[in-house]
Amino acid sequence: MSQQPISSIPNVDLDPHTPLSTLSQIVHARHSTRMFLPTPVPRPIVDSSLALAQLAPSNSNIQPWRLFLASGAARNRIVAAVHAAATTSAPNIPPLPESFRHYRSELGLEVYGHGMGIAKDDKEGRAAAVLRNFEFFGAPLVGVVCMHRDLEKTDSLGVGMWLETLLLALTEQGLSTCVEVSVAGYPEVLRKELDIPEELTVLCGLAIGYQDPEFKANFLHIERQPLEDSVVFLED
Ligand SMILES: Cc1cc2nc3c(=O)[nH]c(=O)nc-3n(C[C@H](O)[C@H](O)[C@H](O)COP(=O)(O)O)c2cc1C
Repeated sequence: MSQQPISSIPNVDLDPHTPLSTLSQIVHARHSTRMFLPTPVPRPIVDSSLALAQLAPSNSNIQPWRLFLASGAARNRIVAAVHAAATTSAPNIPPLPESFRHYRSELGLEVYGHGMGIAKDDKEGRAAAVLRNFEFFGAPLVGVVCMHRDLEKTDSLGVGMWLETLLLALTEQGLSTCVEVSVAGYPEVLRKELDIPEELTVLCGLAIGYQDPEFKANFLHIERQPLEDSVVFLED
């Protein structure tokens, strides 16, 4: 048995003024945005993106995704509560296993260093930038993704498939997003503010809006590992 080589990930340069029309263009255009404009997100775009995401596959078609969305005054109340929590206590997020931590360091260098221009030893600057997670990076539409507490790992796959479909549908409509495990570090605050029932586990936050075109870190191309590190393909 021999492993066959896998072609490398294509690099596509997108013209920001051309509408996205192919799946490949939309996948390339989606990226994590960490500074949003206050411009409100039109409800029909959200509704049509949610309708598309609803077509995602899931184990036994259980459709395990649950989403709580807030805009306007509700959004402001939630952001204020999460931000206040983040200034008084550390978020409760499971630590990354040791062998994966280098990915986070590399990402931090790229996002906070190259993207935001914060020096590695500038602890205050870094802390202030990290705190912006808990303001949902200024997004005018914020979400919390949940799943029933009795469900298992397999079903979180279904939530992931739905979430990526939603991100791509929003991207196609010119919107930007950031999935945020950081805000899920304050589940009780989110539960209270969004009236999330006990039987749902909070998985992550979601920031949605129009990206700030002046913010350099919104235009990073975060590297991926070679396909060979992710996929084994046997042919004989
Ligand atoms: C489950 C999940 C949780 C994430 N949590 C955060 C987060 O808390 N804060 C943040 O800035 N980015 C977060 N991200 C964004 C990742 O850092 C980002 O997807 C990754 O670095 C690849 O970059 P790209 O999305 O721009 O392609 C998260 C992404 C996922 C899928």
